[in-house]
Amino acid sequence: MCGIVGYIGHREAYPIIIEGLKRLEYRGYDSAGIALFDGNSLKISKTKGKVSDLEERSEKEITKNGSLGIGHTRWATHGVPNDVNSHPHASNSGDLAIIHNGIIENYDSLKKELISRGYTFQSDTDTEVLINLIEDVKKKENVKLGKAVQIALNQVIGAYAIAVFDKSKPGEVVIARLGSPLAVGVGEDEFFIASDASPFIEYTKNAIYLEDEEMAIIRLGKEIKIRKIIDDSLVDPYVQELQMNLEEIEKGGYEHFMLKEIHEQPRAIRDTYRGRLLRDEAIIKMAGVEDNMKKFLNADRIIIIACGTSWHAGLVAEYIFEEFSRIPVEVEYASEFRYRNPVITEKDVVIAISQSGETADTLAAIKLAKSKGAFVFGVCNVVGSSIARETDAGAYTHAGPEIGVASTKAFTTQITVLTLIALRLARAKGTMSSSDFRLYLQELELIPQKVEQALKVDEHVKQIAKEYLLSTNCLYLGRGYNFPVALEGALKLKEISYIHAEGYPAAEMKHGPIALIDDRMPVIVIATSKGHYEKVVSNIQEIKSRKGKIIAVVTEGDTAVKEIADHVIEIPDSEEAFSPLLTTIPLQLLSYHIAVMRNCNVDQPRNLAKSVTVE
Ligand code: M6R
Repeated sequence: MCGIVGYIGHREAYPIIIEGLKRLEYRGYDSAGIALFDGNSLKISKTKGKVSDLEERSEKEITKNGSLGIGHTRWATHGVPNDVNSHPHASNSGDLAIIHNGIIENYDSLKKELISRGYTFQSDTDTEVLINLIEDVKKKENVKLGKAVQIALNQVIGAYAIAVFDKSKPGEVVIARLGSPLAVGVGEDEFFIASDASPFIEYTKNAIYLEDEEMAIIRLGKEIKIRKIIDDSLVDPYVQELQMNLEEIEKGGYEHFMLKEIHEQPRAIRDTYRGRLLRDEAIIKMAGVEDNMKKFLNADRIIIIACGTSWHAGLVAEYIFEEFSRIPVEVEYASEFRYRNPVITEKDVVIAISQSGETADTLAAIKLAKSKGAFVFGVCNVVGSSIARETDAGAYTHAGPEIGVASTKAFTTQITVLTLIALRLARAKGTMSSSDFRLYLQELELIPQKVEQALKVDEHVKQIAKEYLLSTNCLYLGRGYNFPVALEGALKLKEISYIHAEGYPAAEMKHGPIALIDDRMPVIVIATSKGHYEKVVSNIQEIKSRKGKIIAVVTEGDTAVKEIADHVIEIPDSEEAFSPLLTTIPLQLLSYHIAVMRNCNVDQPRNLAKSVTVE
């Protein structure tokens, strides 16, 4: 994880880097730092804490002029979050400075070797080892910075996105990537370097995304030169035009990104099916599926791989695929799949789901599946991300940038894309009649407006939140399509409010979790009218008899649950298969309000980062 930003050009670098780091804080916020070159000297300021703490500190420590600089916001891996372990790190001579996102796995042996040659280290980081290795190579081989970086990286095992600067050769920054993202914004006589394009979106729409095992030497007033790290061969830079705009990455009047993103869901779902769901013609058009239809139709099974919320979307998809297209589906945590020698054949279709498109475990699982001959289809939000590039084909979710660490609109748009695929395959396989297909298309098209209606429960949910903000545990129950929603509701609550929460299939409660129920245990039950309703009502009765507090998500017009539950939250009626797109809304709002009332940092919960690019 970690966010990196750099600037080389004709503007003051400081405000660009600080603002850029704030936009990348979703990637980590244990510490922050900046290195600026003012034409004569290299000034470094860094501190434990957030970018706002860095601003305060740099105010006292450095003069803020200079049009070349690099900055970093850290999610700690090697070494606790403190001032010394913060990036940038300088080499022993003080000439070189580096920022790094990733992990140098063989740092220990490299460090021992460097110590034996007289190098000293102040921090516990792998990054300080790398910058001294570069310095060592530069001196030993008597080469320029670019060459030294290349030779050093060929000795390194691990993952990195780095930017390196040499104060004895100002006007040049060397960058490289392997396994961690790195974008270069190309302006008029200026370059921006960043983990994603958000730090430079208001300056240029032209971006180059470095591929794995590529490095670039960026020189002021010159073209960018990209080379392969392994063999020094030149690569033609591919300049892309960015579609993102500034408003998309601002809070737009909401107190938090998470709340903004919850409210964006009607628009996001509409954007996801726009141009793909053609109701009048009764067709679904998705190029990635169409071009690979044979692979899907001949598949023995579909294996879905993902992590966290994306894994929950995969679980919803399992129900939808099996119901609509009658293809067996297995859903796997990418982190388990990649290490357990799974049986995969050329007749498997693997669907990898990831909002960021950068999750290290998902990326590794994709590579494994490909190496065994499977066809891998990606469902990602971030355009041009590593997973989008690594997969054989795919479909973007079009949710727009998701900045809150807690995933919300990514979840509902992932389910939307997967539903479209399942419907398309159902028609192609003939497992759904054309009248049902038309009906589902119609229903899916109505979902954004139903989500808008579901969002109206906000104030009611806020009142409920007041009663439960001091809870220490919570249970979430759901059945069928809404079992994964129970898991997702529990994940949302624990990650942003730090309340312990568990999601369970409602019927499994009697096999253990029921022992937890007492008058202090809030139980959130999804009890929509079409999903095993009577059975879930019985589960609610069982909880009530043990004095548990029931918060029930029901279909509007419900009467039975209203009589027994402590609180009911109504959502619009829909086809059961689409109900997760609605039932998840009040659960997102509930965790949001509880977290706000507990004074938790909703957008940047402790210990977490938005994209998990390390194992
Ligand atoms: O970017 P990805 O979808 O691959 O991320 C997967 C998980 O890290 C992510 O969903 C995480 O669980 C979220 N914080 C959940 O809100």
